[in-house]
Amino acid sequence: MKRTVLRTKLCDMLGIEYPIISAGMGPTLIGEPNGAPVELVVAVSEAGGLGVLGGAGFSIDELQKAIREIKTQTGKPFGVDLLLPKDVLNLEGSHEAIPLKSLIEQLPKPYLDWYNKVKAEMDLPDIDLMVKTDTTVVQPHEAIRVCIEEKVPLFCAGLGNPGSMVNEAHAKGMKVLGITGNAKNARRMAESGLDLIVAQGYEGGGHTGRVGTLALLPQVIDSVYPVPVLAAGGIGDGRGLAAALAMGCIGVWVGTRFLATIEGGAMDLCKQRILEATDEDTRVSKLYTGKTSRANYTRFHDLWDSSGLEALPFPLQVLLASALLGSFVKGNKPDYIGGFAGQISGLIKTIVPARQVVEEMVAEAVDILARKLPQEVTIQ
Ligand SMILES: Cc1cc2nc3c(=O)[nH]c(=O)nc-3n(C[C@H](O)[C@H](O)[C@H](O)COP(=O)(O)O)c2cc1C
Repeated sequence: MKRTVLRTKLCDMLGIEYPIISAGMGPTLIGEPNGAPVELVVAVSEAGGLGVLGGAGFSIDELQKAIREIKTQTGKPFGVDLLLPKDVLNLEGSHEAIPLKSLIEQLPKPYLDWYNKVKAEMDLPDIDLMVKTDTTVVQPHEAIRVCIEEKVPLFCAGLGNPGSMVNEAHAKGMKVLGITGNAKNARRMAESGLDLIVAQGYEGGGHTGRVGTLALLPQVIDSVYPVPVLAAGGIGDGRGLAAALAMGCIGVWVGTRFLATIEGGAMDLCKQRILEATDEDTRVSKLYTGKTSRANYTRFHDLWDSSGLEALPFPLQVLLASALLGSFVKGNKPDYIGGFAGQISGLIKTIVPARQVVEEMVAEAVDILARKLPQEVTIQ
């Protein structure tokens, strides 16, 4: 059967068939599976899009192993996404994993008191989680080095500006992408020589800015011209893809829809929450990381809101949230367990293979652009 053609400049830049990238989605500290694991990357790239590994939180060795695993499973281009925070936990130089419990005990007193109070009141079990000290977030320079040595076709920075590695990456034939939620930051990234900018609107799952996708896209496109832009935040089907192309984007960066696929790495409970969610069932909060992020709503949000505490700076808040999340999982408190997800959750009704998401998105976008729009819009 003849393959549908839907090509943009992105396809030429990356050597892919369709202008669809599955977003890098990292794991939490609690040992929950990675949101965008090797299986998802391979499935999306094999389907003609480009799969991006959620590399944040991997140890440096695990990152290298995962990249090599992807290469053995597909010859198609793929990406790796890292978080490059300005502030890292002061664990560098340490080689042993550290018990999360001992790090929690070093938090400022009001936070430790609140943590102990919640644990006592909810009769939560002690957590025995270990924090790895050699992760890509703690050692971002090492992680970047691995990506460059492995010549990862598309390097993606979900946090921070990867401008300083652009020249070296280009020398290896790599492309570099940055993600942002406002036009000012987008311009800064474009000026640092990045190849692609993802403009992620307020609707999106995970870390999110304050501007909605529809308002953000044209402003980012204008501010970074001629650097090409991908749309993110709230895209879950071919209508979102067609709209993004109509706005002037060269492709889409899609998180939540790929998280809720067979290959997507969310906990089953989180996939179920996405299936049951309406358009109003996510919350933006600093609860999980200290930065504003969107997640499916759970009673953990209410618990945090009632604490009266300001979130700790990233990544300290991650420790606090992860310790409690770990206890909720161990203590079987499903009403308190959730993860990052976007407002598009309300549209997602089935867990399907990632290939099917790519194919249906392409088919629907083609139908809109080639048939529906010319039929429904009169132009003279
Ligand atoms: C479970 C989950 C984990 C995420 N983790 C990361 C991450 O580690 N790095 C990153 O750049 N973005 C991360 N994001 C944001 C996505 O890359 C993407 O920008 C966002 O999901 C797009 O919006 P959408 O969910 O509406 O498709 C995450 C999103 C989700 C839903």
